[in-house]
Amino acid sequence: MSEKKLIVFEGIDGCGKSTQIDMLAKALRARGRRVQVTAEPTATDTGKMLREALSGKVRRTPYEMAALFTLDRIVHNVAPDGIEVMLHAGADVLSDRYYYSSLAYQGSLCDYDWVKDMNVRCPAIRRPDLCIFLDIPPKEALERIGRRGEAKEIYEKEETLTLFRATFLRVFETLGDRVAVIDASGTPEEVAARVLAAVEMVL
Ligand code: TYD
Repeated sequence: MSEKKLIVFEGIDGCGKSTQIDMLAKALRARGRRVQVTAEPTATDTGKMLREALSGKVRRTPYEMAALFTLDRIVHNVAPDGIEVMLHAGADVLSDRYYYSSLAYQGSLCDYDWVKDMNVRCPAIRRPDLCIFLDIPPKEALERIGRRGEAKEIYEKEETLTLFRATFLRVFETLGDRVAVIDASGTPEEVAARVLAAVEMVL
């Protein structure tokens, strides 16, 4: 198994995804692999519309959010600097969030099957080789978010994050994708070792 991999990181807000993505990218590069790091929402026009809604500046319904996130994900796959191009150019791709976030967040707030079908049945949205779910209690996640000192986004409340975490775990049971649920409460190094062990299974 030597072809390039799409590995996506998921978790509730404040779970430590960015730190772990950086650490995994370094570990894979140290083994001579080419790695590209990418994220959703993207930096494109759809990504900008999503950020305005996430900050609360523009109000949107969960249905609008679900459709926008899906469009943003299609762009993320097919853009000239998107996931497909990066994989074909010989890099492993690590994405900060992917369709599991739509299923857990928007799927909790509007018709779940509609959100799921739009994403997993879309031929322009690639199925990842592995999803790393960084699992952390919502209380601890909110403490981390609080320490960042940034303005809170619309979903960053304890009851909302508790609901999303439960939906994530249900999504993983039913979807049949390859998912590693990682305990993300330790030190960054401890968590990174768990992540690397899971990734080694698919390389
Ligand atoms: P971001 O500020 O990037 O948060 P994080 O660093 O935690 O990833 O904002 C992403 C927010 O958008 C986060 O609250 C999760 C949410 N989101 C969805 O609701 N649905 C989606 O499909 C995606 C990709 C993200």
